[in-house]
Amino acid sequence: MGHTHNADNVKIIILSAGKGTRFKSNKPKVLHEILGKPMIYYVTLSARWVQPNEIIYVVGYKKEDVINEINCENCTFVEQKEQLGTGHAVASAKERFKDFDGYVLIINGDMPLIKGETLKNVVSYMEALVRYEGANLTDMVNYKNENIGGVVVTARLMDPTGYGRVIKDSQNRILRIVEEKDASPQEKAINEVNAGIYIFHSRYLYDVIDKLENNNEQKEYYLTDVIRLLRQSGKEVHSLLIPDPTEILGVNNRWELSRAENILRLQYLNFWALNGATIHNPETVWIEFDVDLAKDVEIFQNVMLRGNTQIGEGTVIEANCIIKNSVIGKNVKILPNSVIEDSIIEDNAVIGPFARIRNSSKISNGAVIGNFVEVKNSKIGEKTNAKHLSYIGDAEIGKNVNIGAGTITCNYDGFNKHKTVIKDSAFIGSDTMLVAPITIGTEAITGSGSVITKDVPDKALAVERSQLKIIPEYSEKRKKRKGNKQ
Ligand code: UD1
Ligand code: CA
Repeated sequence: MGHTHNADNVKIIILSAGKGTRFKSNKPKVLHEILGKPMIYYVTLSARWVQPNEIIYVVGYKKEDVINEINCENCTFVEQKEQLGTGHAVASAKERFKDFDGYVLIINGDMPLIKGETLKNVVSYMEALVRYEGANLTDMVNYKNENIGGVVVTARLMDPTGYGRVIKDSQNRILRIVEEKDASPQEKAINEVNAGIYIFHSRYLYDVIDKLENNNEQKEYYLTDVIRLLRQSGKEVHSLLIPDPTEILGVNNRWELSRAENILRLQYLNFWALNGATIHNPETVWIEFDVDLAKDVEIFQNVMLRGNTQIGEGTVIEANCIIKNSVIGKNVKILPNSVIEDSIIEDNAVIGPFARIRNSSKISNGAVIGNFVEVKNSKIGEKTNAKHLSYIGDAEIGKNVNIGAGTITCNYDGFNKHKTVIKDSAFIGSDTMLVAPITIGTEAITGSGSVITKDVPDKALAVERSQLKIIPEYSEKRKKRKGNKQ
């Protein structure tokens, strides 16, 4: 009794057994990705919003792949051995709600734009219908209108093609749903469609689910026929029309996938813009679900922020940068065409243009990693500069170090990777080859063009060069030599 936050009286069934023939793919439909996550991820997220008693996934085509992708909490997988239709899919899950006294909320697995709030509203609406007439009675709390069979979510579409049409009686209750392929021309003209979300009384659903037949155009057991059967047994089926039809977009092919992705992408950008980020050219910017932006972040065109990425206050990310699973501090400047993966960039650092930072690297406060510099699995100390054309791999570099242009840590001997250590305030001359394992001491200096193969003590200079020869008047001598030959 009373209203708890958890919807213990609701079990959710997510239909995800289909192959998705129209995708022309080896991958099950619900695993096709939107903003870097499979479609089923978004449906799951919204389903969890309801806090149901249980989420039941009906899986079939490549079920192991689907199960592997679902982060299952309080969930069950039920197998539909053959994909004989949406009704058959729900029938495969009937043991899960056979002895359950509550509601079964069914969602097509191919509607990634559905919002958790909408699903919650469906449950509330069903509950309200069941209790409505009880408002005048003394025992309000326990009153149940036994006539309410269920609710179907509907939407009005400008172009209803492909969706089931909702046929209603004069009291706006649903008589039945007719699939596009079975519809008469008059029925096709109806633009109120079945969204693919239903809530039923568990008992009533159980009573009719095995009575479905497949005598239709597609020879499938349609879940939508449950409505007709409920109606025939004297139950009312109501509709909940949702105002934003984009939410119910069913994704049946790759173009619809692109459309859904675009809608969601713009929704996220809109969210971040309203939360204090400036986004230039939003039609080209890509920000995934787990990304977090602080205030006053500025993002330019063609930027992709992927995976678990955080961007600190006041940071600017210029054009064509890709940042994945990384934490970027405050007031960082990331100049065009830089790629950062699995790394940490601390406050005030400057990265790029054309920098690449990867494999658990850390760039400390105020450091500069410039043009065509690659940093792999390395720690770069505060205010250290590596501004041009370097490879820094498996290195630990202290504070205030200068890495001259063209410096390379030779970290790989063909078998193993070795570490380079450069201590604070060292000066690495341009084009130094640091053959690891090696340590360059504090304030040590390397002469440019040197191949350094031994540790350099603190404050020492290491130069490795053959002696420079200067031969005066050489060009004249050369001309003479050539002249003699003729
Ligand atoms: C379905 C509805 C249609 C509605 C539309 C909304 C039926 C008969 N029709 O059509 O009225 O307007 O959704 O998008 O339900 N699935 C299984 N097992 C199966 C068949 C399908 O698990 O045997 C799953 C699919 O993986 C998919 C979902 O059920 O996630 C819907 O199936 P789909 O074939 O896409 O149905 P639609 O033709 O779009
Ligand atoms: Ca569909």
